[in-house]
Amino acid sequence: MPDQFTLASAAADSILARAPLSPTLGIILGSGLGNFADHIEDPTIILYANIPHFPRSTVAGHAGQLVLGSIGGTFVAAMQGRVHLYEGYPIDLVTFPTRVLGLLGCRTLIVTNAAGGIRPTIPQGSLVAISDHINLTGTNAAAGPNEPRFAVAPDSAQRFFDMSSAYSPRLRALAHAEAAKQNIPLTDGVYLAVVGPSFETPAEIRAFRTLGADLVGMSTVHEVIVARHMGIEVLGLSLVTNLAAGVTPPGAAQPNTIHHEEVMTIGRRVEAQFTALLTALIPQLTPAP
Ligand code: HPA
Repeated sequence: MPDQFTLASAAADSILARAPLSPTLGIILGSGLGNFADHIEDPTIILYANIPHFPRSTVAGHAGQLVLGSIGGTFVAAMQGRVHLYEGYPIDLVTFPTRVLGLLGCRTLIVTNAAGGIRPTIPQGSLVAISDHINLTGTNAAAGPNEPRFAVAPDSAQRFFDMSSAYSPRLRALAHAEAAKQNIPLTDGVYLAVVGPSFETPAEIRAFRTLGADLVGMSTVHEVIVARHMGIEVLGLSLVTNLAAGVTPPGAAQPNTIHHEEVMTIGRRVEAQFTALLTALIPQLTPAP
């Protein structure tokens, strides 16, 4: 079996052969947020099924295609749909698309997801800028032989690498400034990742709150780990599609239960805000000097 770098390079070469330009910014669109890709100008659309070695999503709400094109002059590559550990994919496949985005030329990555809200002051439908994460999936995507050829920035792709500013304070500040300009509420939050696919129990959510988590979800952390390994700057945005298990909404008598349909419906409702924010923000996110 060829190594992951060889496979990811083959995938990147195959994409570049069909794209007019190299993307400088990658976007991973989570559940309910995939329609953002419809706003990309002059799109080149490539099905994951037509990219060598690329994994295919099995989840409703994940289209499974890469959309390359322009947003206000920035050439982007947007993933409509991702794969998750809970689908049974090995971690190397979960992070394969992120490796490919780096090899395509992306120096900035926007990761988005649907998440459950743990902090009661974050209402359903909120957009949250991820400030940090807690990885409770029991695995790490950078484990295994270190591959220095994945470096896209100087001094990256080291065996051990810093995660203290994994979610770029610079990009987060730009996101907050743009959200304020557009009157879109945006708060910071710590994202905790589990494997899923079961939603959490109320006892788990109480434990996660004690650990310092504001949001819970089943994606993102491994993509961010490999992006940081490669030296890519990351902005993480969560859409709070539901309150986490056992969290009682303000004014409600009962804690809520969670359904995947709710995740999709809330995504569609917040889509206009999400699109307006990202469309204005992306042209400002040129790589740090
Ligand atoms: N838990 C885990 N993942 C999620 C949730 C949740 O409540 N909502 C959306 N993704």
